[in-house]
Amino acid sequence: MKIGVIKETKEFEKRVALSPEVVKLLKKKEFEVLVQAGAGEASNFSDLDYQNAGAEVVPLEKVFEADVMLKVNLPTLEEIAKMKPKSSCISYMYAYQHPEVIEALNAKSIQSFSMDAVPRISRAQKMDALSSQANLAGYKAVLLGANHLGKIFPLMMTASGTITPAKVLIFGAGVAGLQAIATAKRLGAIVECTDVRPETKEQVESLGGRFLTVEGAEGVQVEGGYAKEVSKEYLEKQQQLIREKIKEVDLVITTALVMGKKSPILVTEDMVKSMKMGSVIVDMAVESGGNCEISVKNETVVKHGVTIIGESNLPSLLPVNASQLYATNISTLLLHLANSNGFTFDPEEEIAKGVLITQEGQLVHAFTKSILNP
Ligand code: NAI
Repeated sequence: MKIGVIKETKEFEKRVALSPEVVKLLKKKEFEVLVQAGAGEASNFSDLDYQNAGAEVVPLEKVFEADVMLKVNLPTLEEIAKMKPKSSCISYMYAYQHPEVIEALNAKSIQSFSMDAVPRISRAQKMDALSSQANLAGYKAVLLGANHLGKIFPLMMTASGTITPAKVLIFGAGVAGLQAIATAKRLGAIVECTDVRPETKEQVESLGGRFLTVEGAEGVQVEGGYAKEVSKEYLEKQQQLIREKIKEVDLVITTALVMGKKSPILVTEDMVKSMKMGSVIVDMAVESGGNCEISVKNETVVKHGVTIIGESNLPSLLPVNASQLYATNISTLLLHLANSNGFTFDPEEEIAKGVLITQEGQLVHAFTKSILNP
């Protein structure tokens, strides 16, 4: 089986689907690997690194001879037009948001699998790209926020005076939120966090953060490792709690996610107005609508004296590690589904069923179907 890796074409994307290390591993498993010349440059992987690992470095058109394309981002319509009919593709897809891509894949009977649909179960942890990337993103969000603040994080006692530590407030103690807490603590900030899942209290505290409990948090349901949508009443109570807190903090990081839904608005424009001059918000949920009412996707704006960062691709700002981890995730999934002779998976097996989007010209993914054809 021939694997193809091209340079990602999405704006500002620096990641690449396979690292040279992982190419080596796939070669040992007897896959052939075609890599577009220059595909890994933005992640600091040279063509020579790929060649030394056993890949064939070739011009773009030749990569499309592959039986399975491995990508980071959703394939574009132009890319699909170049793929072999009845070939396969694995990438992030967010298929429920892209019916035109599903149509194009089906028109060529391309079998597709989505990295964002890997079930959050222990067995699939090594394939879980959402988690590997969110972890890096949580770290980078704190550094970005810190860079935009006109003050330092730690307590500093100097001959010229004492500097009190910065206060950081984090919404959501999932993968990104927990890494953000750990990073902000390491830099010396006082960190508080709120989450709708009461069981995250212990995790927040174990990292040295303070958990803000919203009354009535009991009963928030979790499905497939993700929180379900909370009630309007809960959100109102949460807002009352936050309204007071937010006036004192220097940096807010929002990571609240409800899978398949628009992100909940947790920081309203009024709250932003009440924040201290010069404080910073990093809205990590900006891609799914944002947790801050006035964040702007892929822009850093200053509103009411507060800097609001809406960077939607934080992992791409750490392309070396992000590509290394993603390559492990995607290759582990490939090896779960196939061997060097072709795909061997049972479509009823939990992981395969979770990730398989299109097959033999049909949309087969239950969740995507429920959103696109309710
Ligand atoms: P996750 O599912 O592990 O964590 C999300 C957390 O938000 C959960 O603990 C959940 O209980 C909590 N939550 C849900 N509703 C809430 C509410 N109303 N108030 C407080 N907490 C609430 O997700 P993960 O992997 O940590 O990702 C977090 C967010 O960061 C997602 O929106 C994701 O798309 C985004 N992300 C953004 C990146 C970027 O570059 N901007 C990169 C990676 C992830």
